[in-house]
Amino acid sequence: MNSPKRPKILAVCGTRPDTVKMAPVVNELKRHADEVDLVLAVTGQHREMLVQVLEAFDLHPDYDLNIMSARQTLVQITTRALAGLDSVIKKVRPSLVLAQGDTTTTFIAGLAAFYNKTPFGHVEAGLRTDNKYDPYPEEVNRRLTGVMTDLHFAPTELAKRNLLSEGVKEESIFVTGNTVIDALLGIAAREHTFEDPAIRAAAESGRMVLLTAHRRENWGEPMRDICLAVKEIIRRNPDVTVVFPMHKNPIVRDTVVPELGEAERVILTEPPDYVPFVHLMKASYLILTDSGGVQEEAPSLGKPVLVLRKTTERPEGVSAGNARLVGTDFDTIVREADKLLGDKSAYEEMARAQSPYGDGHAAGRIWEIIRSRFINYG
Ligand code: UD1
Repeated sequence: MNSPKRPKILAVCGTRPDTVKMAPVVNELKRHADEVDLVLAVTGQHREMLVQVLEAFDLHPDYDLNIMSARQTLVQITTRALAGLDSVIKKVRPSLVLAQGDTTTTFIAGLAAFYNKTPFGHVEAGLRTDNKYDPYPEEVNRRLTGVMTDLHFAPTELAKRNLLSEGVKEESIFVTGNTVIDALLGIAAREHTFEDPAIRAAAESGRMVLLTAHRRENWGEPMRDICLAVKEIIRRNPDVTVVFPMHKNPIVRDTVVPELGEAERVILTEPPDYVPFVHLMKASYLILTDSGGVQEEAPSLGKPVLVLRKTTERPEGVSAGNARLVGTDFDTIVREADKLLGDKSAYEEMARAQSPYGDGHAAGRIWEIIRSRFINYG
């Protein structure tokens, strides 16, 4: 790669998860301000949920494209982000564009970099389910991103193998661990008290179940089945409280609020900031989720996870025994949750703390790779 002596890196993010996972990289680059210039651009694909993550990690975007609109379509996100990022790249003229994960912001950052013939680095490269509609649109977003990538920062050996099997050159793949563990460990170590007394009581009871669900494949009927299963779990386990931080997407809330709004021992909340969310995970007994990041974080905190999806691009947690794929079928969710809530030894087996996704030093490795590629010593 042809690069100036002092590289300029353009980091791009836009939603809650890609910003959480990009934050350790951005902060690592900031620590090396004597060697590298950092420019942070956010698309604003998410508005409120993005702002709280920026605050949690003390990130200050240089560019905010503010693209979000109510009930936005994939085409709207794509076209607005592409036009916006294209002009940012033309103005900044970076040596490298960096983006994380599989959101539409990520894919478009890769495309805008490609159109401007600018090298692109993909953080969390190589995750695959091999089902183009599950998760939708993320599986195709990350595949397309991979095609445009020059530096693949793979979180695990399995992710590296996925890339190799698609013909990606080995010298462009680096196994770094997942940056989400860097973000998590820093925040889990902070002291925290929950503001909401109901959540405080649920957390202190030791039997709080944390639930998150937002994926497009789960909109409508599957989301309804998840809600019905929650009511049944509550009915069978009188000491359990379910806390459900709801995604901002109104399509999610259209199903969840009518089903669970009045349910006993179910607390529906606004999506908490990342810091309280980490502490909710830490205080929970069991986690039910369709989120990717939560699947990665929970094993480090020693929390069993029931994954509310048919497929996962994160089988490492399933192999390690911390996670189980249960889908969205009512009976399966109730049965698996009941097993963990009722059988101490089944619970202990899944609750072993381990970290198949990283050791908390991924961002440092990514910086060293960028430095070796872009800084000419001598
Ligand atoms: C997006 C990502 C998904 C990621 C998820 C994490 C895409 C296509 N999807 O899905 O990969 O797992 O983020 O959250 O990139 N909204 C608000 N305020 C916010 C955020 C969202 O009001 O702070 C509402 C808006 O009405 C918006 C809707 O949620 O139209 C959907 O947001 P969108 O980014 O299109 O999809 P997500 O479901 O959030």
